Amino acid sequence: MRGYDESYRQSIHRPEEFWAEAALGIDWDVAPATVTRDDRWFPDGRLNTCHNALDRHVAAGRGGQAALIHDSPVTGTVRTLTYAELLDEVARTAGMLRDLGVVAGDTVVIYMPMVPEAVVAMLACARLGAVHSVVFGGFAARELALRIDHARPKVVLSASCGIEPGRVVAYKPLLDAALEQAAHRPAHCVILGRPQCAADLVEGRDLDWARAVRDAAPAACVSVAATDPLYILYTSGTTGSPKGVVRDNGGHAVALHWSMANVYGAAPGEVYWAASDVGWVVGHSYIVYAPLLAGCTTVLYEGKPVGTPDPGAFWRVVATHGVRTLFTAPTAIRAIKKEDPSGNFAKKWDLSGLRYLFLAGERLDPDTYHWASGLLGIPVIDHWWQTETGWPIAANCVGIEPLPIKPGSPSKPVPGWDVRVLDPEGGECPPGVDGAVTVKLPLPPGALPTLYRDEARFTRSYLERYPGHYVTGDGGHLDEDGYLYVMGRIDDVINVAGHRLSTGAMEEVIAAHPDVAECAVVGVADELKGQLPVGFVVLKAGAERDQDELERELTALVRERIGPVAAFRRAVVVGRLPKTRSGKILRATMRDIADGHPYTTPSTIEDPAALPEIAEAVKRT
Ligand code: COA
Ligand code: AMP
Repeated sequence: MRGYDESYRQSIHRPEEFWAEAALGIDWDVAPATVTRDDRWFPDGRLNTCHNALDRHVAAGRGGQAALIHDSPVTGTVRTLTYAELLDEVARTAGMLRDLGVVAGDTVVIYMPMVPEAVVAMLACARLGAVHSVVFGGFAARELALRIDHARPKVVLSASCGIEPGRVVAYKPLLDAALEQAAHRPAHCVILGRPQCAADLVEGRDLDWARAVRDAAPAACVSVAATDPLYILYTSGTTGSPKGVVRDNGGHAVALHWSMANVYGAAPGEVYWAASDVGWVVGHSYIVYAPLLAGCTTVLYEGKPVGTPDPGAFWRVVATHGVRTLFTAPTAIRAIKKEDPSGNFAKKWDLSGLRYLFLAGERLDPDTYHWASGLLGIPVIDHWWQTETGWPIAANCVGIEPLPIKPGSPSKPVPGWDVRVLDPEGGECPPGVDGAVTVKLPLPPGALPTLYRDEARFTRSYLERYPGHYVTGDGGHLDEDGYLYVMGRIDDVINVAGHRLSTGAMEEVIAAHPDVAECAVVGVADELKGQLPVGFVVLKAGAERDQDELERELTALVRERIGPVAAFRRAVVVGRLPKTRSGKILRATMRDIADGHPYTTPSTIEDPAALPEIAEAVKRT
């Protein structure tokens, strides 16, 4: 068995050999003769991702094994689909899409709650070679409209509602509002009716999901080029317009399949649960594609870590379904810890089958690490990645060789990722010194090849700053042993409860308020959610506003335009924003002030008195 060091070295120095071997884990219609060319992986290979996730397992005798367990405390139901059943549903749903005119290369937007049909929809697109773009249910109509206009779907797949604890979120009115705002017109919308809420269908455009699928004949897999897109996933950038991260078919299948055994140590037939949402990259990669590519059973959980009904919800799912590997965000563990600090709810369940807890989505603070590992008595593994990369950049690869855990660090770079920490001049930072965390090109298979319909933004956002390197947007350092420490974003992206959000997008919404002259939104440390957005607002001359009332209006505006997931609730009125002489807002300094950290007054500041004014305003609220 190769250890970590040897695997890592091979992946960096002989990547073709390394990834050619990994590609053997995938069924190809045409096996790739070329491993890599012009930053594309397996350029002459052909395959179908859905075939690799479903058909081949059924053919190999796994048809009777559970492929997907939908555990939904919010509806009080559990539904299990075997590989054979999931394949049947996917093939018929693909047939329905084909009947609606969807062909390889077309885009399909999926705006759905955490129900099996969401997974079915994704795989049905993959089956046809169509490109799905899943939009997270917590986004408002305007965000959905932006994505519809950019992705230009032929069909939109949605549901009558999602269910949040204590309320039913009607999705159909949000979809209708989005389609009113969008310039693009999809030919059809297919709506899954849920018993909790009916949906009004628009004659001629909207179809009832159950009826449309019932009438459809199953569709076979369509062979696509490895470099053809599998999906687009929009993620927050520093401006209001989201970035459409593209994922290809071949590199993605190879990397994700490889990661299940080598990063997570998961074997076919095991139950693997990523407690996230299909609307995020964690959901795409580790609820849907990777566990199925690997022949595991995946859990689709429609609930929360707390309140559905109690902080024992995760432990119930682990014990009931025999989960071997659990993956969630630190914020979920903090939420459980807050309500059940002694871990009494965990003690009610037999958790002896749980082998690993993996955490990602935000920095794993050492307190949460110690609490979870003390409670569970198993390795708690921080790992770091992002929508763009599709799978972990740094992790303790337990499937290769478990390394000693250092709390606060996601361990070492995963094979394939040549991580370099750079100073502003592009030189490598010595151990212990913070800099920009970058990845020396080429990126491994599975990472984004481009941004959808925006190659220029791809280059500008990720490749220009340090030629030859991909910029992750995170800052941090390596230590003497090569362990990476990721300390947080160095751009205007924030992370709220493991959800990635753009402060720029919130600023655009707030600036649209008639009384607001200008504003800056910064992410401020929060014990539960990691960060929360706080808006600093300068009023227009003559506008006299009550602070609380304005805060309520701005909160409602952000909720309406971006969605409840933004968790925007705090706005502070200030006389002016601290800026450099060239007009750049000093957001990092504002964040330090709001966090109560010591701050230095930058020499480039236009008006030094602006900073104490911010500190005073924060104290007042
Ligand atoms: N559809 C509609 N609304 C949604 C939604 C969805 N899919 N997901 C979240 N929302 C709403 C919530 O109802 C909430 O609305 P509210 O302000 O009216 O209460 C708001 O968006 C914020 O949601 P959330 O961030 O989930 O906060 P919360 O306070 O409801 O729960 C946690 C806090 C920590 C329990 C929760 O954030 C959590 O489970 N986080 C884990 C995150 C995760 O898995 N991230 C993926 C990366 S691995
Ligand atoms: P997303 O694209 O939504 O997955 O968010 C990616 C961002 O979340 C990263 O760029 C980091 O800022 C943050 N992040 C994810 N995982 C970790 C981690 N393990 N440690 C620190 N930050 C993380």
